[in-house]
Amino acid sequence: MDGTISALRWQKRELILLDQTRLPGEEVYLTCTDYRMVAEAIRKLVVRGAPAIGVAAAFGVVLGAYELIANNCDLATGLEPVFRELAATRPTAVNLFWALARMKKMLAAGEAATPEALVQALEQEAVRLYHEDIEVNLRIGEYGAALLADGMTVLTICNAGALATVAHGTALAVIRTAVRQGKKIAVVACETRPLLQGARLTTWELMKAQIPVALITDNTAGYLMQQGKIQAVITGADRIAANGDVVNKIGTYTLAVLAQAHGLPLYVAAPTSTIDYHTPRGDLIPIEERSGEEITQIQGQRIAPAGVKVYNPAFDLTPARLVTAVITERGVISREEWGKNRG
Ligand code: MRU
Repeated sequence: MDGTISALRWQKRELILLDQTRLPGEEVYLTCTDYRMVAEAIRKLVVRGAPAIGVAAAFGVVLGAYELIANNCDLATGLEPVFRELAATRPTAVNLFWALARMKKMLAAGEAATPEALVQALEQEAVRLYHEDIEVNLRIGEYGAALLADGMTVLTICNAGALATVAHGTALAVIRTAVRQGKKIAVVACETRPLLQGARLTTWELMKAQIPVALITDNTAGYLMQQGKIQAVITGADRIAANGDVVNKIGTYTLAVLAQAHGLPLYVAAPTSTIDYHTPRGDLIPIEERSGEEITQIQGQRIAPAGVKVYNPAFDLTPARLVTAVITERGVISREEWGKNRG
């Protein structure tokens, strides 16, 4: 585990989520006792970040299954609406659908089992997903750390840290590992409008880990690169298409273009479960559009005229040609290697 940060944990048939909408002001936990609560928590970003959403949804299925057997209902048919509701929470991060597919496979494999044995098998699968995520992130950290040299300042966006996973993070696992290896690494965190995952979460997490971090507004990134103050950009991903196009938090594409203009590498750290081989190109990935109020209001305070038209895509698309390398738990895949393997 990751010391003090635990975005989610499964305890006595309850899913306990660190409420990320309340950070950094308050460290409060939400106890989900049924799958509807899990779905609502994912929708509202109480739990967020591609790998964490997937694991949370898997436990949502387990909660749904326990509810069904308590009511003597058939699991296979009863779980259909549970899968549907969890899958409908957020459209972009593929880890959600990947984790639900793993749960469905387990359900199908246990067709002949008693309901009690089947629920147990589902619970074991969710727990397996939880532990796998920890292992995978440690490996991403090891592979990625080799790309960071002593003394580098690394720019990141959103939060691809322990808070976005079961532990360690993806992009932040790379930084954590490099620091553990004795390299001096400083981080610059983009605040990440509109929901400020960089300002609220990445800084909080890195300060807890005693890793030097400076917060900037999103529009400061280019200026810092121009001044030579950034040596690499490292981000997470919500979905990577088969051709290597990356969909991640809105603003990632801007950073990618800036990185290219300044001759800086852009690394994307993500587990292989984020790679969607069924989607050939990034422009086919659904981009979540969120409420305009996320932009017109800050903590309930209106900052734009009532009725103004708003455009609020939560993610954007970075073409593969702008991604220097993808860091996975199986190794680092450079742009060139990806191109060779995938045509
Ligand atoms: O809207 P969010 O906060 O769920 O967006 C999260 C991101 O964009 C992360 O970069 C991505 O999910 C990778 S997290 C390891």
